[in-house]
Amino acid sequence: MDVTRLPHPPHRLPLLGDLLGGDVRRRPLQTALANARELGPIFTRRFLDRDVVFVCGADLVAEVSDETRFAKHVAPGLAMIRRIAGDGLFTAYNHEPNWQKAHDVLLPAFAMSSMRTYHPTMLKVARTLIGSWDAHVGGEPVRVAEDMTKLTMDTIGLAGFGYDFGSFERETEHPFVSALARSLGYVQAKTRELPWTAPLHRGDDRRFEQDVALMNKIVDDVIAARKASGERGTGDLLGLMLDGGELDEVNIRNQVITFLIAGHETTSGALSFALHYLVKNPVVLARAQAEVDAMWGDAERPDPDFADVGKLRYVRQILNEALRLWPTAAAFAREAIVDTTIGGHPIHKGQWVMVLAPALHRDAVWGDNVEAFDPDRFTPEREKARPVHAFKPFGTGERACIGRQFALHEATLLLGLLIHRYRLIDHANYQLEIKETLTVKPTGFTLKLARRTERV
Ligand code: HEM
Repeated sequence: MDVTRLPHPPHRLPLLGDLLGGDVRRRPLQTALANARELGPIFTRRFLDRDVVFVCGADLVAEVSDETRFAKHVAPGLAMIRRIAGDGLFTAYNHEPNWQKAHDVLLPAFAMSSMRTYHPTMLKVARTLIGSWDAHVGGEPVRVAEDMTKLTMDTIGLAGFGYDFGSFERETEHPFVSALARSLGYVQAKTRELPWTAPLHRGDDRRFEQDVALMNKIVDDVIAARKASGERGTGDLLGLMLDGGELDEVNIRNQVITFLIAGHETTSGALSFALHYLVKNPVVLARAQAEVDAMWGDAERPDPDFADVGKLRYVRQILNEALRLWPTAAAFAREAIVDTTIGGHPIHKGQWVMVLAPALHRDAVWGDNVEAFDPDRFTPEREKARPVHAFKPFGTGERACIGRQFALHEATLLLGLLIHRYRLIDHANYQLEIKETLTVKPTGFTLKLARRTERV
């Protein structure tokens, strides 16, 4: 692709390229979003000597979603995560045979019908969070994103592998969780590292190797314990991988670590954004509360069954709208698999572009007031009227998110239970500040809690 024909940020510097524009090292995503507003639906940024093309317009994203011409690309940032997750589903190259094998083994475990199996575990962990939040009623505020991350980590650990991180009971973070957070921070920093500063980070390099070794050991122990127990047919992700016999041991470990990476911060961020927008939009919150009240009435301890969650349509619309404004895995890369064009720009086989989902989700197809939080954008009628490729929080095509139903079931259930039980008090008049790591999430967001005494 001839990047010289594409718009780029002004004030490009020799050697550094666009590295100093905006706050690109700390907030690469928000800087790219600001670029999209100024530069239009396709533009380029230069990181040192590497040009990256960003695609944001709905028409262009529809083109790169065409699987006869484009496929997933493991971009440099994702390739770095291979140092933690190897050839797990998320980071596997398209040509690696283990991707297809693992996909075939695991796909049934993520079908909508399988959510029935995970539902009791999801409910159990949701109740643990509620127990912890009850202790804050009328007292100290809760730290929203942190608690959502505990919930999603515990849920995927238990539902996926029968492993209890016990995040709400612990005084300090589980060592796996700290090692994972640190090692993801490390690979992220490596992607943005200026080459001549590498010798300054030898200590971080060593720490990273130790963290990866620790995570591998914990996961290998879980696998060994399951094998030693002789249990079969457990129906969880680990059981499926072991019972099938198609996947080798290192690959199974990579998949477990992958699900822990892919399955927790994304969903916890979505829940945190949804709670933020709810407290800022009382009319939406009242409508959502009316929906859960109609289902659970005044029950002190509602006992939602699997089917109830599917009936919380408006709560689901709220999550979708939160994911529209802030898709928590905000960018994904697509490579041309044939010589082709994007919006008339020629692109050769093997070249790749980055889809910037938050910019796509603000395309004109979403109307004039794209920053407004309006869950009615996701009524079935309006969804049908919109181009199919306008909403991509879960990626696209064959390599789209395998955990989508898992995330949405877990998040709808928890959000429903929280708004049924609590009055959420925006005591600090929180102004959204987004922290960018592998994912995006609100930072410094706290809420005070009261029990709801009156139903809508
Ligand atoms: C892939 C987003 C939850 C497991 C993806 C991709 C996106 C995404 C955008 C595509 C990445 C790419 O093209 O490079 C999200 C969001 C979530 C979520 C926004 C929550 C709101 C989950 C959960 C799990 C999961 C709960 C597991 C339990 C995966 C895996 C892949 C993936 C394994 C790779 C699939 C493949 O390439 O075969 N996700 N995800 N995700 N996600 Fe999710």
